[in-house]
Amino acid sequence: DAGDPEAGERVFRKCQACHMVGDDAQNRVGPQLNDVIGRTAGTLDGFNYSDAMVAKGEEGLVWNAETLQPYLENPRGYVEGTKMSFAGLRKEEERADVIAYLQQYSEE
Ligand code: HEM
Repeated sequence: DAGDPEAGERVFRKCQACHMVGDDAQNRVGPQLNDVIGRTAGTLDGFNYSDAMVAKGEEGLVWNAETLQPYLENPRGYVEGTKMSFAGLRKEEERADVIAYLQQYSEE
C-alpha cells in the first residue's frame, strides 16, 4: 500500500550516510537520488557504479515502487554484486515510506 512520506523522511536517515536528495544534492558514497523514480539503474552521469548495477540497467531495470521494494529489502540479493553496502530495510512499511519520500524528489 502507499507509503507515508513523512515517516519516509525519518527512514531516509539510514540512507543519508551515502545518499543525498533535494537542492544541491551531490553524489557521495552513493548516487544522489533526485529523480530516482523512473531512472534506469546505474545511469546517473558522474557516478562510478558497480559493473553489476550497470548490467542491470542494460537489462532494462528501471527504479519504481515495484523494483525498489525488493532492492531495498535485500540490495545484494536483488542486484548480485552491487557495491551498496546496506543490509536492507526489513519492514515492508519502512520500504513503502522511504519510496514515498523519494517520490517527492522525482518527476514521475
Ligand atoms: C545505489 C537507494 C542506503 C550506497 C542505490 C540505488 C538506490 C539506492 C535506489 C540505485 C541508484 C541508481 O541506479 O542510480 C538507497 C536507499 C537507502 C540506501 C533508499 C536507504 C534505505 C545506502 C547506504 C549506502 C548506499 C547506507 C552506503 C553504505 C549505495 C551505493 C550505490 C547505491 C554505493 C551504487 C551501487 C552500485 O553501483 O552497485 N541506492 N540506498 N546506499 N547505494 Fe544506496
